[in-house]
Amino acid sequence: MQITVSDIDVERIDADAIVVPVFEGDNPRTGSLQKLNSFSRGQIARLFERGEITGKRDRWALLHGEGAALLLYGAGGIDDSAIRLQRMAGGAARVIAPRGMKSVAFLLDERIDIYLQTRAIIEGAEMGLMEGDFYASDQRQRKIERLILASEQPISLDDAIRTGAAMAEAANLARRLGYEPGNVMTPSELSRRAEEMALYEGLSFQSFDEAEIKRMGMGAIAAVSRGSDESARLIVMGYNLDQPGTELTALVGKGITFDSGGISIKPAQDMDEMKYDMGGGAAVIGAMQAIARLGPRARVLGVVPAAENLPSGRAVKPGDVIRSLSGKTIEVANTDAEGRLILADAITYAISRGAARIIDVATLTGACVVALGEARAGILGTDQALIDQLIRAGERTGERLWQLPADNEYGDMIKSDIADIKNTGNRFAGAITAGMFIKNFAGRLPWAHLDIAGTAWIEREKPHLARGATGFGARLLAEFIING
Ligand code: BES
Ligand code: MN
Ligand code: ZN
Repeated sequence: MQITVSDIDVERIDADAIVVPVFEGDNPRTGSLQKLNSFSRGQIARLFERGEITGKRDRWALLHGEGAALLLYGAGGIDDSAIRLQRMAGGAARVIAPRGMKSVAFLLDERIDIYLQTRAIIEGAEMGLMEGDFYASDQRQRKIERLILASEQPISLDDAIRTGAAMAEAANLARRLGYEPGNVMTPSELSRRAEEMALYEGLSFQSFDEAEIKRMGMGAIAAVSRGSDESARLIVMGYNLDQPGTELTALVGKGITFDSGGISIKPAQDMDEMKYDMGGGAAVIGAMQAIARLGPRARVLGVVPAAENLPSGRAVKPGDVIRSLSGKTIEVANTDAEGRLILADAITYAISRGAARIIDVATLTGACVVALGEARAGILGTDQALIDQLIRAGERTGERLWQLPADNEYGDMIKSDIADIKNTGNRFAGAITAGMFIKNFAGRLPWAHLDIAGTAWIEREKPHLARGATGFGARLLAEFIING
């Protein structure tokens, strides 16, 4: 999608459609709507009079006249929240593209921060256009060739456009990886896709196979992968690793390419969705792409432990005791709590590479889905400043977080009788005890954990987004690295 800026009169904009965001309380007799109303020969005022357009979220009307079609799209209350503007842009793009219109202009609203608005429109539109039917013979067409940002004042939006495009592509890369079925997206394939991205973007890249993982002493990753015929992988991407002076941040993402639960097998219902259990890893790969493109002054290590969790005659069993890379022994109380196991070794590895702070991202617990649903991911950690920074980054990208507590009492719930720690607690506080398990491996480093189990996949299509993988976390992590 080509993105340009235009400051000419709306009536002369060369586009198939012009999107007019309508906010609650907007009036067709004032502001930019007034001008458009005469362009539409009074049709806009009539839509308002009849209550068809009110600014209510996702209510829209499409007007065809002499020139460009006008799409009035309800955005809700006026504010600069990224999520609201992304929703408007995605929703509008999903109205326009299926109707065969190839170029679209979005009217920028002067009442809203222009930088955030530009980013949100690009991210919303690019993400709104992606569909999940990659393997259908007759794929739904959702393409827009040209996106025009129409603003009254001549302003430079280069930086916002560059950032928005990189963020959108990061999220869509993560989504693409999440949509891929488990038979395609094996740990080796995830590694290949990450490698392709890394080489293209100029990131350093390493990938260790299962034999190397065992040799290095990563008993936790090896245990999870034991039941599978697919080789586990430890995928490592580096940005500015040899630039001295700045502290190294590690982004660690869970890359379970299919989670059957292993011997503690899951029920059949919805088990197919466990192909997106590499959503955390996908977010890290997407974020690394955006970081490479936008070039911030930072040093970043992206680590994605990848494995398939399956039952077999060789699989790890409930009650087994394993030795992690850290030297800590783990009682595997439940083989379905596999994400925290692979993250444990990946975090120890990141520390051995010199990480000064650690952020892990994972589709970790059903308990987090029950607690927060699809609207917010859970966050907890050991460093409140780091947590606050991540929450703020998520507010800016429209990926909202909610902090969970991390008191020592929760840590007590995963003490083992036989080993240093066990991988599950009881039914209570499942999202927190999962985080507390990981905390043990971050040691004294500032650490934060994002549980994206509920936000990485949406069960139903939304006006602005197809059903399925959301790429949650990719933009948030990149934003955090780039703008703090
Ligand atoms: N991948 C799942 C968590 C999950 C659940 C992700 C629903 C997305 C949607 C994770 O590996 C898992 O199975 N967690 C268990 C932990 C339990 C055994 C302590 C869970 O949440 O049931
Ligand atoms: Mn599991
Ligand atoms: Zn899992």
